[in-house]
Parts: sequence; C-alpha cells; structure tokens
Amino acid sequence: MNEAKEQVELARKAFEQEFERFDKLRSTNGDLSLSEAEILTKDLAEIRIKHTGRKSAISGLNRLIGQVAPEERADFGKLIQTLNAEVNQSISEAESSLKTFIETAKTERERLDVTLPGRCPRVGHLHPITLLRQKVEEIFVSLGYHIEDDREIETDYYNFDALNIPEGHPARESQDTFYTTTGFALRSQTSTVQIRAMERRGAPLRIIAPGRVFRRDTPDMTHTPMFHQIEGLCVDKGITMAHLKGTVHEWLRRLFGKETEIRLRPSYFPFTEPSAEFDFSCFKCTGTGEFENERCRPCKGSGWIELGGSGMVHPNVLKACNVDPTVYSGFAFGFGLERMCALMYSLDDIRLMFENDVRFLEQFR
Ligand code: DAH
Repeated sequence: MNEAKEQVELARKAFEQEFERFDKLRSTNGDLSLSEAEILTKDLAEIRIKHTGRKSAISGLNRLIGQVAPEERADFGKLIQTLNAEVNQSISEAESSLKTFIETAKTERERLDVTLPGRCPRVGHLHPITLLRQKVEEIFVSLGYHIEDDREIETDYYNFDALNIPEGHPARESQDTFYTTTGFALRSQTSTVQIRAMERRGAPLRIIAPGRVFRRDTPDMTHTPMFHQIEGLCVDKGITMAHLKGTVHEWLRRLFGKETEIRLRPSYFPFTEPSAEFDFSCFKCTGTGEFENERCRPCKGSGWIELGGSGMVHPNVLKACNVDPTVYSGFAFGFGLERMCALMYSLDDIRLMFENDVRFLEQFR
C-alpha cells in the first residue's frame, strides 16, 4: 500500500509542479496581457489531457488497485478519486478565470468612448486672391460679361504692337518683362486678351480677363515679379465714356457697398483715347479721410483709393483686330488684384500673399 500511495503522491507532485504557474493566476490576473492569456489557455488544455486523459499518470494509478491488499483497496481508490477531483477542479478554476480575463480584456480593447470629440479633417480653402477674383467675376457675369482666359506666354505683337505700343515707345520701358530665348515674353498686362478676344469673337463683345502678369520688378512691399490683373473690355455700337463710368461705378458699388463713389482722372495709356485712371471712395472711412478720429489708413487720409486704368479703346487697337472704328467704339479698364486685396485686408506687404504660409492664408476663408 505504501508504495502505491507513493505513486499517488508522485502523480500529485508532477501535476502541482506543472500547475504552479497557473496557481499564481488567481492573484495576478492584472499583469497578464491578452495574448499571454490566450497562450496560457492553450497550455492549460494540454495540461488537462496530460494529467487527466486516459494515458495520464493519474489514470495509470487505477491499475495499481489490484496490487493493494483487498481491505485497503477502498481507501486507495478514494485517494485516487480525490486526487482526480482536485486536479480537475484546479484546471477548471484556472480555465474559467482565464476565460473571464480574456473576455474582459477583449471588451476593453473594443470599447468605444462615444464622448470623445471627433477628429476634424483639415479642410482646404481658396487663396484670398482667388476669392476676390471670384467675387469680381460673379459681378461681371451678372452684368452680361464673358470671362476670357488666355495665354501667359505672348509675342511682342500681342503684348505691345497690337495695343498701339510700337517698338521704341516709352511705355515698353515701364513694362519690362521676362523673355524666352525664342522670341516670346511673359505678358506684362492682361490687356493682351483684349486683342485675342476681339480676334476670336469680333464685335460686339463684353469680356473680362483675369490672370497672371509678369514684370521685371525686384520684390518689395508693393511689388512682386508676378501678380494678377483683371482686364475689362466692352465694344459695341455707340459705347461712350458714360458707359465706362457707369460700369466701373456699378461693379465697385456691388463689391464695396451702395455708397461707394468713383472718380475718373485724366491719364495716358497708349491703347485708350481718352484715358483715365479711376479711384473709388475709401471703403473704410467712406470717403471722409478719417477713421476713428485718425487719418484713415487705406486711403492715407485722402478719402479716395486709386485702383486702375481705363479709357475709350484707341481706334488703332480696334483696327488691329479688324473691328471698324467708324462703326464700333468701346471702353476698357484694368486693375491689379494684389493691391486691392492688400487694401481690403490692411496688409503692409503684398509678398505675404505668395509666401504660402498657412497661418497667414487660413485667415481668409
Ligand atoms: N494694362 C494697364 C497696366 O497694366 C492697365 C490698363 C489701363 C488696362 C487702361 C486697360 C486700360 O484696359 O484701358 O497698367
């Protein structure tokens, strides 16, 4: 009997030794990771087979019953049963505590905190120059104008000659631009589109042409070698200076408000005759020259803001486009967008608009 009992003890020890690491589970579940717990569950299933299966040492003990003295067999049998029950219970307990742990860990992992603020995607927006261009475009479209887009690389003919600026004319000097090695130039004014549009559409026509222009200027607070202009052209029978004035007045009123006034000052441009520069009453001080008891900044206290050039299209320009100046007349105007933008937003330096600093640009949504 003693020998047989020893076998029982040996089987118990063998189990206990292997089960030791699961024993700890009862107190230290918290340190486990989910994947560790999953591995332990697999190990535990192996241990169950190894220690309670048909080929296990504990099952083998049953075969010893026959070797024990008959009066002691009942006690010995109980001994084996108890061991069997204890082993099964230990394994089951460990299994269920692992199962609970895994379930909680999984729930935790998949938990959604619906109170967390959402992640806001960064939405892009248009550049201030584009926004202003679109506003002006909308106004002119509602006045019945077409929007013309044309090339930025031009010949001398379109940039100068056809606009009544022959070679050697001093106006070429002030509009020096960038040239290619093959006889082309980057346009220095959107007035080139007057010619292209008239060639394409003939008369009558009403167009505006927004776009980039280039000049050989050194960048400073008020100059950049690339900037934007909007050109306007209206050609029809009987067009007069009054139409020019009315049109400029109307679109500036729509942009800056009903009270906006304009004034035309005599000027000179080769492609218009007569020519005028146009100013509008300051949007900040509404023409008084004073804002909050101080000299108004955008208009420098004058009450007027200079915006662009204009005039009645020169007969030579009409002729260059095969439009008969004895039948048709027209007006044209042009102005820069950067200067206008800088005034509207009180920017001291127009270079800011091309540095692409998002902190600056995102203010103009
Ligand atoms: N093209 C001129 C410039 O760049 C602006 C201009 C003046 C355009 C008079 C016009 C105009 O159409 O009639 O300075």
